Amino acid sequence: MDILVVGGGGREHAVIKALAASPKTGRIYCAPGNGGISKLAECFPVKATDVDGMVALAEKLRPDYVFVTPDDPLVMGMVDRLNEKGFRTFGPRANAAILEGSKVFSKGLMKKYGIPTAAYETFTDADKAIAYIKSQNSYPAVIKCDGLALGKGVIIAQNEQEAVEAVNSMLIGGKFGKSGSEIVIEEFMTGPEVTVLAFTDGKTVKPMVSSMDHKRANDGDEGLNTGGMGTIAPNPLYTAKYADECMEKIFKPTIEAMQKEGRPFKGCLYFGLMLTPNGAKVVEYNCRFGDPEAQVVLPLLKTDLVEIIEAVWEERLDKLDIEWYNGSCACVVMASGGYPQKYETGKPISGFDADGQLADGKAYVYHAGTKLENGTFLTAGGRVLGVTATAETLQAALDKAYEAVGEISFEGVHFRKDIGHRALGK
Ligand code: AMP
Ligand code: GLY
Repeated sequence: MDILVVGGGGREHAVIKALAASPKTGRIYCAPGNGGISKLAECFPVKATDVDGMVALAEKLRPDYVFVTPDDPLVMGMVDRLNEKGFRTFGPRANAAILEGSKVFSKGLMKKYGIPTAAYETFTDADKAIAYIKSQNSYPAVIKCDGLALGKGVIIAQNEQEAVEAVNSMLIGGKFGKSGSEIVIEEFMTGPEVTVLAFTDGKTVKPMVSSMDHKRANDGDEGLNTGGMGTIAPNPLYTAKYADECMEKIFKPTIEAMQKEGRPFKGCLYFGLMLTPNGAKVVEYNCRFGDPEAQVVLPLLKTDLVEIIEAVWEERLDKLDIEWYNGSCACVVMASGGYPQKYETGKPISGFDADGQLADGKAYVYHAGTKLENGTFLTAGGRVLGVTATAETLQAALDKAYEAVGEISFEGVHFRKDIGHRALGK
């Protein structure tokens, strides 16, 4: 089975590592890939958002499957285009990827089908939005732009002035372009966050082990929002009781709702959940694996990922038992200094062997933003590496991951020192 993976971050590296472990896998291709990925897959310089270019690459390589990993190409309809050309794919078509592509759509779906989420209103007119905020007079207020915004389209306003500024920046200032021409204003929820990724073929939903992201840049959950600074799996706060509740009230109803709407979702559906005092509620849906959630969930997958991809494509996920290892996994992201704002790239990374791994094999290093030049790995992005370890307990996995982090360095490196602390009750 030859497989083309679309994307080029740590998540794609994790997908490729899992694919490479399958006896069913033949050649693995990746576009655009990165330095670390190039050690497992043949990389091609086609951007993940270049739909025409990717279709042309698939026609040249003729893979058995194309695994479309990032949100943008999914929302843009890359899967639809590939299917039209006869390629088998993993990932939702555009009419289902809209679950992430439009918050107005996803909130409307949850309202229509009674799926628990924060109460909300939508607006296209700034005056009406501001009048609503003043009438609610409740802070923090949560203001979200409708479309994709690189994870930056959510503003938690602490007071009226911040809320008004957020509304104006989106609806009048055009801060997020078309993505922000409609906004959602919603109730502020409290409680720990949990990510649950799930395989679904449009009819059956099979949740993976839960995880917890650490989105803020600095220790103690302070600083700016990032794509994710580290993850752990499973998430100890997500008990079996929550898993049952979410299956009945959130996971199954979502899959059924999408099916009823004529938008069957095939691929990996990301449930961003909050365990509020009134039960688990949906914060957001994503139409793909999380990054860096994939880096801690996939290493715990015992079942062959290629078999799952086939079962999803052939819509027989109900017949497949998906098994998981018992231990825990932890991933610590090593980022460029300054991320998520301005940062420098091109810094040589020390501590690696020729494969961009640690010679002692203590941890696996998922490359997020690296390139390989004349045999040297250089930094090439904000998030650079996801140093990942598996062990029997979460504490042991974290200890191993941090020990490995200590063996790798590059100029200006920044990483959080408290990944997993909250999960461990520290
Ligand atoms: P989203 O992109 O929708 O996941 O939002 C980004 C982050 O903002 C989430 O991970 C939460 O930490 C926070 N957030 C979003 N919506 C809410 C809400 N209604 N109440 C509290 N926090 C929220
Ligand atoms: N780690 C959050 C996300 O992938 O959206």
